[in-house]
Amino acid sequence: MAVTFAPEHPVHAAAIERVLDAAFGPGRFAKVSERVREGARLDYARSRVALSGGRLIGCCRMWPAQVGTGRAFFLGPLAIDPRLQRSGLGAQLVEATLAAARGTGFDGVILVGRPQFFSRFGFAPIPAGRVTLPGPVEAQRLQWLALRPGGLERLAGPLNAFRAATRA
Ligand SMILES: CC(C)(COP(=O)(O)OP(=O)(O)OC[C@H]1O[C@@H](n2cnc3c(N)ncnc32)[C@H](O)[C@@H]1OP(=O)(O)O)[C@@H](O)C(=O)NCCC(=O)NCCS
Repeated sequence: MAVTFAPEHPVHAAAIERVLDAAFGPGRFAKVSERVREGARLDYARSRVALSGGRLIGCCRMWPAQVGTGRAFFLGPLAIDPRLQRSGLGAQLVEATLAAARGTGFDGVILVGRPQFFSRFGFAPIPAGRVTLPGPVEAQRLQWLALRPGGLERLAGPLNAFRAATRA
């Protein structure tokens, strides 16, 4: 199966909703991550979709955010069509998304997810209390990755996604 990874475009919106509903189920809007993303500005150019034969089979979204004096992308949601999971696509999609984030001048990437999955890309748990979200998250699941040497040093405090009306 030939799969390509492309920047997200507004025309993908409905297909992404279908993949997210199928991958996460009805509880997906209850996550603390959704509170971060409410009213936030999606970075289409750094988000990635996985496409196969004209069909959208996965997505990985990126949300620019201020964290203390630094700037980070908040990554997620990440999902692969459940019929196509466990064949390496999720890992390839994350790699493609991180490649797009490098060289942007941002300090790092932050996400809430399973450490067993994300450690392979270099993500590590954020020391407890160092970065805060608008609700409780399990400490081990809040993770970060530097996008440049020393990038993590500037990331401390509440994570505030850029608002939809804000320009970078
Ligand atoms: C997480 C997700 C994007 C991974 O995509 P994928 O294409 O299945 O992942 P890959 O095939 O690249 O697998 C990567 C690894 O994760 C493991 N894995 C994938 N899904 C898993 C799951 N639900 N539970 C446990 N392990 C899982 C795979 O076994 C593989 O491990 P390995 O490389 O050690 O064998 C996909 O499973 C998904 O959409 N899940 C539902 C939504 C979700 O949980 N998103 C992430 C929120 S943190």
